[in-house]
Amino acid sequence: MSFLMGEKVVLRPVTKSDLGGSYAEWINSQDNDTFTEHAQFPHSREALEAYYDSKNATNGIWLAIVDKLSGKHVGNIELSGIDWVHRKGHYAIILGDPDAQGKGLAKEASLLLLNHAFRKLNLNRIELGVHEDNEGAIALYRRLGFVEEGRLRKALLRNGVYRDIVVMGLLADDFISAG
Ligand SMILES: CC(C)(COP(=O)(O)OP(=O)(O)OC[C@H]1O[C@@H](n2cnc3c(N)ncnc32)[C@H](O)[C@@H]1OP(=O)(O)O)[C@@H](O)C(=O)NCCC(=O)NCCS
Repeated sequence: MSFLMGEKVVLRPVTKSDLGGSYAEWINSQDNDTFTEHAQFPHSREALEAYYDSKNATNGIWLAIVDKLSGKHVGNIELSGIDWVHRKGHYAIILGDPDAQGKGLAKEASLLLLNHAFRKLNLNRIELGVHEDNEGAIALYRRLGFVEEGRLRKALLRNGVYRDIVVMGLLADDFISAG
């Protein structure tokens, strides 16, 4: 089943069967969690099912990123906390499989979801928060058109060092005029 289709990726709803697959491995892995904080606490199958139920009960879109070449579920992307009054939402992405990174999959998946958010859901603003030293993610977000709007100063404590969360935003006019 596909929801949004690109050249390199298919975005489809996350299903309960994903919770026993590679998703469970990367959400528990200490190797790829520096900037996501996913693996601070262990995630049992039961905890993942509760998370799944909460995701599907909230106002958002939670999608699996499938690499068309390998057919593998390599990451997740979401729009959460959609506010229909002020027409805005929060975007987040993770490519949990390190082999999938650096191939343009995140950019294509993000463009598919942002296009859907602005053109189909008629949202006006998408926002996100990112660790100040997550250079790869910040490069991706700038490439998508996000601009830095401010910083939550010393909002993180990692390896004994306080770090800022950079708040970035993208407006419908800017996304649509960029084509
Ligand atoms: C951040 C992340 C989503 C990027 O995914 P990706 O598939 O590697 O990114 P893409 O290959 O689609 O690259 C998109 C653009 O960002 C740039 N980019 C990506 N990683 C980069 C890096 N480490 N340094 C510099 N630029 C980078 C690419 O050059 C590309 O720009 P281009 O179109 O001008 O060539 C992925 O590395 C990831 O999931 N990391 C772990 C989880 C995470 O940090 N999530 C974000 C939390 S806020």
